[in-house]
Amino acid sequence: MKFDFDKVVDRRNSHSAKWDGMAGAVGATAPDAIAMWVADMDFEAPPAVKEALLEEVNRSTHGYYTNDITWKTAMSDWLDRHHGYKPDPEWITPTSGIVSALGLILQAFTEENDSVVVFSPAYHAFDKIIKANNRHIHNQQMINEQGKYRMDFDGLKASMPKNAKVVFFCSPHNPGGRVWDEAEIRQLADFCIENNLILVSDEIHHDLVYSGATHHATAKVAPDIEEHLITCVAATKTFNLAGAHIGGCIISNSKMRKQFRDVCNRSGLLSLPLFGMIATEAAQRHGDEWLSQLLPYLEANRDLLAERIVRAVPGSRPMHLQSTYLGWVDFAGTGLTKDDYMHRLTHKARLGVSTGPQFGPGGESWVRFNFATPRSIVSEALDRMEEAFKDLA
Ligand SMILES: Cc1ncc(COP(=O)(O)O)c(C=O)c1O
Repeated sequence: MKFDFDKVVDRRNSHSAKWDGMAGAVGATAPDAIAMWVADMDFEAPPAVKEALLEEVNRSTHGYYTNDITWKTAMSDWLDRHHGYKPDPEWITPTSGIVSALGLILQAFTEENDSVVVFSPAYHAFDKIIKANNRHIHNQQMINEQGKYRMDFDGLKASMPKNAKVVFFCSPHNPGGRVWDEAEIRQLADFCIENNLILVSDEIHHDLVYSGATHHATAKVAPDIEEHLITCVAATKTFNLAGAHIGGCIISNSKMRKQFRDVCNRSGLLSLPLFGMIATEAAQRHGDEWLSQLLPYLEANRDLLAERIVRAVPGSRPMHLQSTYLGWVDFAGTGLTKDDYMHRLTHKARLGVSTGPQFGPGGESWVRFNFATPRSIVSEALDRMEEAFKDLA
């Protein structure tokens, strides 16, 4: 079966945060603005998801859900098939998405005012959830080595606060799309053992990896750190189900798992979201072929953006993404002020994009473009940028 990623689905007026929330969130107010910010896709999810949801809808009784073992098993089997890592399904706790899991992890394993290490620039919700829990964020800026991010362990050793308890590790990394090598993951695992830190490996982008790169599950690279490791995964990024808001928190260490579940339990968070469970289980059981066709489509969008943006916006420099559909482009070389290039992008080109500073130190002059949309829309966005920056050519 051939899936149609070229199909344009009009998501306006559908309560889509990305399209309907764009004016308020990123200031792109034009009626024909193109949403390229928040990380969901404009493609239809795999048909198996629709079929499973329709089956449930046709039942017309949508009471409490039980028996999450099939869901956990589907997740474990998916990880095994795609990443060679097969956790015991019992190690998995469903959570209301990954960000929610991060908040619960902080509540379970840290105290107020403790510090959390983040390799910046990093997914901005890390900062928000850390601060919302009255913890401190310790941004360890990554080194941009010839267009590729690298974690700065020497810098971290020198600057890490004494009260650091946790590392939020984004693997693959958002933004910048870095797929970490086994040696880098091993180095981070050893650092966490030496410094008695809990390593939270957020692997939500694990399936969105392009040719030439291989994602390595932290739990597989460093199985010996089970007393320090929590892995967060989900099917929501992979299959465009972000609104289902469900993820899995994998903890092999039974004491830590209990500590985590106790916190969930205290807020009544161990009951299961029916529609999200059904959608993500169907995707992980039947979505392999869909994903195998999605990846080359996204890769071609990545290449189109990278090739054309350097001409459309003279001086811009896209980072080469090994993963994610979140183009990461440095505008420092344009010679424009941030206000100027953001005005051109948001109001002249009419694009809703993510500004770099929200990703923390190292993101100042960057802009993030979500290209998980039909190619005709990526092309239109590039045409508009060409027009908006034509005086620089
Ligand atoms: C690294 C990372 N973690 C988590 C999330 C969001 O997870 P959720 O929607 O399950 O809270 C995102 C979304 O962009 C992300 O990039």
